[in-house]
Amino acid sequence: MTDQTAPQAGPRAKLSTDPYRGTRDFLPPEMSVRTQVFGTLYRVLEAFGFVRYDGPLLEAFELYEAKSSQEIVNEQLYSLVDKGGRRLVIRPEMTPTVARMIAGHSQELALPVRWYAHVNCHRYERPQRGRLREHWQINADIFGSTSHECEVELFDLIRELMLSIGAEPSTYAIRANDRILAEAAFTNWVGLDRAALRPVLRALDKWEKVDEATREAMLQENGLTPEQIDRVKAYAAMDLEQICGVAGPEAAGQSNLAKVIQGGLCRTPVKFDPLILRAFEYYTSTVFEVFDTSPTNRRSLFGGGRYDNLVSLFKKERIPGIGFGMGDVTLFDFLETHEILPAPRVSPDVYVFGLDADSRATAYGVARELQEAGFHVVRSLDDLALPKHLKYASRVGARFVIMAGLSELAPGQVALRNMSESSQEILSAGEVPAHLASA
Ligand code: HAM
Repeated sequence: MTDQTAPQAGPRAKLSTDPYRGTRDFLPPEMSVRTQVFGTLYRVLEAFGFVRYDGPLLEAFELYEAKSSQEIVNEQLYSLVDKGGRRLVIRPEMTPTVARMIAGHSQELALPVRWYAHVNCHRYERPQRGRLREHWQINADIFGSTSHECEVELFDLIRELMLSIGAEPSTYAIRANDRILAEAAFTNWVGLDRAALRPVLRALDKWEKVDEATREAMLQENGLTPEQIDRVKAYAAMDLEQICGVAGPEAAGQSNLAKVIQGGLCRTPVKFDPLILRAFEYYTSTVFEVFDTSPTNRRSLFGGGRYDNLVSLFKKERIPGIGFGMGDVTLFDFLETHEILPAPRVSPDVYVFGLDADSRATAYGVARELQEAGFHVVRSLDDLALPKHLKYASRVGARFVIMAGLSELAPGQVALRNMSESSQEILSAGEVPAHLASA
């Protein structure tokens, strides 16, 4: 891949045909696969009562400054200043936008609401497997309820979304934690003060990606004593019961996740994982990610959580939110790895041509009827000889060809060719739609 930003060699140098690094072009075959997969996912979301919304690609910088993740704000934002001097960003995620929209329209909404969107997001990352600079996310969020039923519903929804695209439950794992429990464990049991809490949560978020010495260093940097470091390490290996124990009964009683897991309320297995902490500042309690069980794909398929205070950035009213983003890059890696990608559908059902002006009118009349009947029909554009029409029909993969103006045909007749069987029959133009409908 060439770097488009590099200076061109001379006046005759042609522009690169590559997209900007970390972004992708989707050619029709790939787009056909994506449309099928996303269409299936939309149907599941709508079956769960989610309704679709959309929002702008550009947002005010302040929206992210306050509550997003430090890594995103400091290292990954595409930002710009508009001609009026306003600081803007190209959205790196959708949650601040949807919180802004909910806050702006809360009076009109019958809460709780279930909203979904399918948007592209930009983050300035080093492109690698599962991580690009532009990715698409399906976001599904519920606003206006603090009930643990939200968690149950979202976990069930993940299962149904995955099932709908052919993914068996054994091929992925939902891993979840609760920041209420983690923060109580760190303040009550490890004895951290508020200032050390955030950096330690961030260190734990990276725990599995770094070696022992780096872990130790990250904690020492934040002034933890050797005894506190030992307790943080012990935390990293605890199960849900142990963490509820060290967090204390108040925190355990507030945890929706503990209720859901300990009460066996979910049809979908959800694994408690003390190291899922998520980098975003806005999450307040439940946090979760979904991973492929194949080691080929290490990056998460979904990431989400509960954010009960984000809407209050915009207005006094407190409207709790919970939801997830499902990323397309990791999703398509997953579908490929597990060999469940649908086949592209870009070939027309029928290619239609006439060899002269009169027969072209007959052929196009048939084309119109077939299009109305739901067939995908390609009409010829250029004046070609018969063999060239057939060659083109074969190259584009047409199943049938309708030919008008051949010397053996009477007026009003066409020849219908079945390309896979190389068979041909003569019909009157009016008979074609019914004939193809039963083919
Ligand atoms: P996130 O974990 O940053 O969460 O992203 C959600 C998903 O988007 C990830 O699991 C991953 O599949 C995909 N993703 C994120 N960054 C990239 C990237 N650079 N390249 C490819 N895929 C990526 C959020 O964005 C939250 N706003 C999600 C949310 C919605 N939380 C509540 N509601």
